[in-house]
Amino acid sequence: MTSRYPEIYAAWQADPARYWAEQAEAIDWFKTWDRVLDDDNPPFHRWFPGGLVNTCHNAVDRHVDAGRGDQLALIYDSPITGSMAKLTYRDLRDVVARFAGALVARGVTKGDRVIIYMPAVPEAVIAMLACARIGAVHSVVFGGFAANELATRIDDCTPKVIVSASCGIEPNRVVAYKPLLDEAIQLAAHNPTNVVVFQREQYAASMETGRDLDWVDLMANAAPVDCVPVASNDPLYILYTSGSTGRPKGVVRDNAGHMVALKWSMSGVYGVEPGECFWAASDVGWVVGHSYIVYAPLLHGSTTILFEGKPVGTPDAGVYWRVISEHKVAALFTAPTSFRAIRREDPEGALIRNYDLSGFRTLFLAGERADPDTVQWAEQKLNKPVIDHWWQTETAWAMAANCVGLGSLPVKYGSPTKPTPGNHIEILGPDGTAVPAGTDGAIAVKLPLPPASLLTLWNNDEGFLNAYMRNFPGYYETGDAGHFDEDGYLYIMSRTDDVINVAGHRLSTGAIEEVVAAHPDIAECAVIGIKDSLKGQVPIGFVVLNAGAGIAAEDLSAAVVQEVRNRIGPVAAFKTALVVTQLPKTRSGKILRGIMRRIADQEEWAMPATIEDPATLETIAAALRSAGFEI
Ligand code: COA
Ligand code: AMP
Repeated sequence: MTSRYPEIYAAWQADPARYWAEQAEAIDWFKTWDRVLDDDNPPFHRWFPGGLVNTCHNAVDRHVDAGRGDQLALIYDSPITGSMAKLTYRDLRDVVARFAGALVARGVTKGDRVIIYMPAVPEAVIAMLACARIGAVHSVVFGGFAANELATRIDDCTPKVIVSASCGIEPNRVVAYKPLLDEAIQLAAHNPTNVVVFQREQYAASMETGRDLDWVDLMANAAPVDCVPVASNDPLYILYTSGSTGRPKGVVRDNAGHMVALKWSMSGVYGVEPGECFWAASDVGWVVGHSYIVYAPLLHGSTTILFEGKPVGTPDAGVYWRVISEHKVAALFTAPTSFRAIRREDPEGALIRNYDLSGFRTLFLAGERADPDTVQWAEQKLNKPVIDHWWQTETAWAMAANCVGLGSLPVKYGSPTKPTPGNHIEILGPDGTAVPAGTDGAIAVKLPLPPASLLTLWNNDEGFLNAYMRNFPGYYETGDAGHFDEDGYLYIMSRTDDVINVAGHRLSTGAIEEVVAAHPDIAECAVIGIKDSLKGQVPIGFVVLNAGAGIAAEDLSAAVVQEVRNRIGPVAAFKTALVVTQLPKTRSGKILRGIMRRIADQEEWAMPATIEDPATLETIAAALRSAGFEI
């Protein structure tokens, strides 16, 4: 089939306002917009101003009204607990309307913030949709973060209510969420009025009388409420993500533009029909979970899967194939790291043959670089197309993809293909001018960004301008570097800041460094992301001790590893801190992190002319070798 991509991309380019106005017809409006795009105050562009909408109505109620009430909306498949639950669109509407009523009864109204700190259980999705229903702004915090990170988010978005669960379940342990939450509230300056706790049978949380409310009790007495119309650009949610500093960035998403773009992506990017089953194997704490476990499939009238398990070990490397065949999944979206984990356990893909995957059409990968080796392995073993696509928390949907719904373009390994309609991408040199094909540079998107892109950072317009808009006026700076080839295929090569991707999780080495540097025996340190065959990248620290510090290297190492776990969380996957006598620096004192990374990754490197002491590089190599790294 010839791809319609060139034609659709050209139609968007020719008249973006008309293009998005057409896509906007696919959602319900209480009142249509006054203008398609408000560009009066760039770079603060606003899509569909003047409109009134409700995201929960479009994701849930609308489908019941249109006759999809008996169709499955949400399948909760939890191999880690051995349980499963299925909710139709009608079930989902009823339970969301009641939880929304419960929130209203606790005084939550339009614009109030609600933090959701929960594992992958249906109550997390219900809470998100309930907030959308009443115009409250949710902020989901991933369960693998420590109390300190949660406290930072509590203080930044000052929630009226926090919704949590007693625990999450990891393969090797039960993670008690409630004590972490209690500690976070202690650490934070802001106090929520109420905490709603979903008690799981694996761990009973203790409750603080007056403040803490049991989910089940609350729901027993809750009266359902209807969807509240909100303005197109009212915030739907805040999602914190790592930036260049320890302070996380609160990405603010609107309602209307988000719905329009996500609804389009389901057919345009993923080629999935309403009524089909779509599975994003992620967590609701990440943007992939927000966009493709919750909002996009439901806006589209598809069935979505909430999976509580791992690609391996719950119980084995065949679990993805079991879920796909059992629930008739048409398309799976996950991070390449899942496939590296599966391949490691089942290199021949033998378990695939135990399941009927005839209804499965496409595998989509994102969140980190899709290494060609993994992509080819998945293609061969599944005998299905494997589609890499590229996006970020800030954008909510793909900036570059092989748009399966428009008819696929030929795959080029290592490339997420071409910009999606809505994204004019350029590769810029340091002076802000476009560089020729084949030359690496900063990947930037010409303003205005498409619908669903971040409005700003929560309470931090200045941070938004500094992080994304200042370096290249008129463009959004993605923080990624790469190039186009002669055929217009985009290649994502690296980050331009200190963000690393660990098992598809976005982390800041700067934030880890802040924790390590705070240890009283450490004079200075550098944390870099190095290649890892399973997780893509992992952080590793190099520390220099204070003169006279009496601590043994292994004790110091264990202490900082534990401190990173305590302050950032297990998700940081920080397991190695190596003591060295000196860090390699330029004569002006800048730590040469790039060279250190190249040494660790065994990439070519050249001795910088500005290095203060070339011998320090050998110190780094020796430390890596003695820790067992093959370099
Ligand atoms: N709550 C609490 N802790 C969590 C957690 C959660 N929701 N998610 C992860 N953690 C913990 C893990 O238990 C682990 O702890 P440990 O150091 O005690 O072992 C730590 O955080 C690091 O987790 P992770 O990097 O995920 O490593 P892992 O070895 O547990 O699992 C994979 C490796 C590949 C199986 C896993 O990363 C995975 O399933 N990835 C799928 C892709 C994905 O979900 N990407 C997200 C964005 S699309
Ligand atoms: P997150 O905001 O957590 O989704 O992380 C976004 C970052 O992950 C991007 O800026 C990239 O650095 C990286 N990323 C996401 N998708 C891809 C991809 N397909 N190829 C390479 N890097 C990717």
